[in-house]
Amino acid sequence: MDFPSLTPGAGDDVPLYLQLYWRYRDAIASGKLRAGDRVPSVRSLASEINVARGTVELAYQMLTSEGYFSPRGAAGTFVSPRLALLGETAPMAAPTPPAPAPFEAEMAAGVPRPFQLGLPALDAFPRKTWVRLAGRRLRMMDLASMVYPESAGYGPLRHAIATYLGISRGIACTAHQVFVTPGYRAALDLVCRTLLKPGDEGWFEEPGYPFARQFLTSAGMRLAPIPVDGEGLDVSHGMQRAPNARFAVATPTHQSPTGETLSLPRRLQLLDWAAQQKSWIVEDDYDSEFRYHGRPLPALKSLDRDGRVLYTGTFSKVLFPGLRLAYLVVPAAHIERFAQAASQLGGPASVPVQATVADFMEQGHFARHLRKMRTLYAERRGYFVDALDEVFGDDLYVQPQAGGIQTLAYLRRAFARRSDVSIAEAAHRHGLAVHALSRWYGSTPTGSGLLMGFTNIPDREAALALSRRLRAAAKAG
Ligand SMILES: Cc1ncc(COP(=O)(O)O)c(C=O)c1O
Repeated sequence: MDFPSLTPGAGDDVPLYLQLYWRYRDAIASGKLRAGDRVPSVRSLASEINVARGTVELAYQMLTSEGYFSPRGAAGTFVSPRLALLGETAPMAAPTPPAPAPFEAEMAAGVPRPFQLGLPALDAFPRKTWVRLAGRRLRMMDLASMVYPESAGYGPLRHAIATYLGISRGIACTAHQVFVTPGYRAALDLVCRTLLKPGDEGWFEEPGYPFARQFLTSAGMRLAPIPVDGEGLDVSHGMQRAPNARFAVATPTHQSPTGETLSLPRRLQLLDWAAQQKSWIVEDDYDSEFRYHGRPLPALKSLDRDGRVLYTGTFSKVLFPGLRLAYLVVPAAHIERFAQAASQLGGPASVPVQATVADFMEQGHFARHLRKMRTLYAERRGYFVDALDEVFGDDLYVQPQAGGIQTLAYLRRAFARRSDVSIAEAAHRHGLAVHALSRWYGSTPTGSGLLMGFTNIPDREAALALSRRLRAAAKAG
C-alpha cells in the first residue's frame, strides 16, 4: 500500500498519534486509500515507522470511532466499506447543523488541539491498565450490569468516591451522600431541580466558568456577577450586591480561570453568610488534585458545619473528559430529595463504565496516576512558562499558580494595546486553541489575557515551538 511514511521529527509540536490520524484521513479524502483497503496492523505499522504501539493504537481508535476504519478481528483493519456507499450515492441534502456557539466550538473540538483547555495529559493515561479493567468488567456480564442501574450511581463507585474524599479532601461523608452525574452541569441540574427554583438569584464568579454560567442561566437562575481578586471570590461585594441570594457558585481551590485560592477568612465569611441566609454554596472542586507547591488545601466543604455546601468534583481532569462522570456530595439532611430528583433522570452512565472507575480507584491505580500526573504537570508547566518567557519576554505576564492545569498570561507592553479576543482568534486561525480571558466574563470584562492548557505539551522543544507559533499568529493578526 502506498501510504506516506510518518516522520516523527524531534521538536514537532503535534503529537505523533494526531499526525498519524491526519495522514490517514488525508489519504482517504484524497483517494490514496479507498473503501475496503486493508491497513497495516498496529504492530507492523508501529515497527515500520518506529513509534510506540500505543501511538498507532490511539490513532486507529480515533479513526475507528469516527467511522473511517472498520476492524474485522483476525482479518485485520480496513478502510470502512461504508465510505464507498457515501461516495457513490447522490448525496442527500444534509441538514446544515446549527453553527455551534463560538465558545462551545473552542472547548469541544473533538480532536485535541494545542493549548486546548480542560484536558488531562492524554499520552500519559494508563491505557493498558484501564483497558484490562474495562475488558474484565465487560466480560463479566454480571446481572448487576444488565439491569437498570441505581439512578444515584453505581454503589461501589459512590463508596470509592466517599473514601477518596475523606482521605484527600478532608470531607466526612457517606456513600449515600454521593450522587454520580454525567458531568458537572448535570450536578448543577440536580441542585437546581432539588433546592432552587427558576428566578432564584445566585452569586457567580466574575470572571467564571462559562459553561456553568450558561447552564444556570438557561435553567432560569438570575446570576449576580461577583468579582474575584487575589483572595478569590469577593464575599463582601456579594453581600452588598445580592445579600439575599439563594446560592453562590465558587471554585475555592483554584478560581476558574484566575487560579487564585479563596483565603481562609473569606471561606469563613462565605460559610457564615450562607448559614445566616439559609442559602446554598456550590463548591466546584474541578481540579484540586493538581497542586504543585505546598500542601493541598482542604475543601471548603470540610469546614461546613451547617450543611450549606454542595460539593462537586469531576473525573474529567483526573481520568478523561470523554468518560462524562462527575459527582455531587449533598448534605445528609437532603439525601431523600436528591434521590427523588435523580430517579427522574435515568442514571448517570452505563454500569460497566462506572464499575471500571470504581475498580481503578479501589485497586490503587487512581492514587498512583494522580501522583504521577502531579509531577508530570509541574514539569510540563515549567517547560511552558519558560518557553513563554523566552519567546514573549515582558510582553506577557504569566500568573503564578499553585496548581491547576491551565495557564493564564496577561497581555503587556506591545500586546497590551491588542484585545485578547483578537489574539485568541488569530491563534485559532493558526490551529491553536487559545482562549481570551475577557470571554469568561458575564458582564463588561475588566481583565484581558490568554488562557492556555499545557498538559499535552510533551517537552521543552514542543513548548518552544508552540510559543513561537503563538507569537507568529498574534503578529500576523
Ligand atoms: C471550572 C470547571 N468546573 C467543572 C468542570 C468539569 O466539567 P465536566 O465534569 O462537565 O467535565 C470544568 C471542566 O473543564 C471546569 O473547568
